Amino acid sequence: MKFNDKRIILKLKKLSQNSYSKYSKFSVSSILVTKKGKEFYGVNVENASYSLTICAERNAFFSALTSGEKDFKRIYIYANSDKLPFPCGACLQVMSEFVDEDFEIVLFSKKEKREFKFNELLPKRFKL
Ligand code: THU
Repeated sequence: MKFNDKRIILKLKKLSQNSYSKYSKFSVSSILVTKKGKEFYGVNVENASYSLTICAERNAFFSALTSGEKDFKRIYIYANSDKLPFPCGACLQVMSEFVDEDFEIVLFSKKEKREFKFNELLPKRFKL
């Protein structure tokens, strides 16, 4: 494990304690990194009306956008599970407004790490 991963994993684990996931019990946290190295956080927030749930990565994007950031380099997504938290189609479509094909998506579960370029996960994005 690279040194930098250690810091990020510790931060992701700590953040995942803020996940509000009482229905799925699938806690997700995410750190979005701008091209200048600023970091923005998100966790998943569920609701008794299930479809109102917001994923961790979308919350990280909305937080960064709220602060006026628009240039993004990488997102880390962590699930407190043996399963990797592949971003859902809705999150990929939201990201697609703001990232280029080389945007890095780094996934962690409790067991493994995998890295992708945005284009590998959403090769044909919808754009107007
Ligand atoms: N979830 C995320 O927050 N990000 C992902 O990448 C995958 C799924 C959340 C949504 C829901 O709260 C829970 O995980 C189970 O689907």
